[in-house]
Amino acid sequence: MKAPTMILSHLTRLATLAALCTSTLATLAWADDHGPRVPLLPTYKAECSACHVPYPVGLLPTASWQRLMTHLPKHFGTDASLDAATTEQISDWLMANGGGRRAAEAPPEDRITKGRWFIREHSEVAADVWRRPAIKSAANCAACHTQAAEGSFRERDIRIPK
Ligand code: HEC
Ligand code: HEC
Repeated sequence: MKAPTMILSHLTRLATLAALCTSTLATLAWADDHGPRVPLLPTYKAECSACHVPYPVGLLPTASWQRLMTHLPKHFGTDASLDAATTEQISDWLMANGGGRRAAEAPPEDRITKGRWFIREHSEVAADVWRRPAIKSAANCAACHTQAAEGSFRERDIRIPK
């Protein structure tokens, strides 16, 4: 084999490798543009997305999740109680996956939307925007994050309703 041909075949193999890597990464599904997503526990998705989107587990510390899970009958003015086995299954998953650099401390009321990271990340959203009828509450992530129900918050999927 002549030298240029050899280099070419090496390059082809490198390109194939790179393509393989990219497709592997793609299947990991990204929550946003900054990190990998924790796949949602099916029970969490089923039980905790009846009234709002399934909130990303990494946006609250485990202490907050724990408090929320022990007070489900009194959940932000509503009753979100579950049977003991389901509560335990969801709690275990939240304890194993909660916390991280976006959830260093428990926010007021254990609300993601009152946490420092959230407020900083959303600083460009003006106060009157939050009050628009199509949004109403900062907790209504899906109003702007069109793929929130699937657990994705990437920038390119953000549409702020008028
Ligand atoms: C019966 C309806 C209902 C169910 C079921 C429910 N929630 Fe909620 N949840 C609410 C309401 C109402 C709010 C307050 C929303 C607002 O302020 O706009 C809320 C708010 C929250 C918040 C705070 C959002 C913020 O402001 O940052 C978290 C966290 C949360 N829920 C977690 C859960 C978890 C975990 C489950 C499953 C165990 C669950 N919810 C099931 C009704 C529900
Ligand atoms: C009024 C519309 C709106 C609502 C409601 C909203 N967001 Fe956002 N979100 C934004 C905007 C705008 C950004 C900033 C994008 C940027 O920095 O360019 C953002 C950024 C983010 C990011 C970072 C995305 C990235 O790739 O860097 C995450 C994660 C996120 N929001 C989660 C949430 C969660 C969780 C909720 C609900 C509890 C929520 N957001 C509610 C508009 C909204």
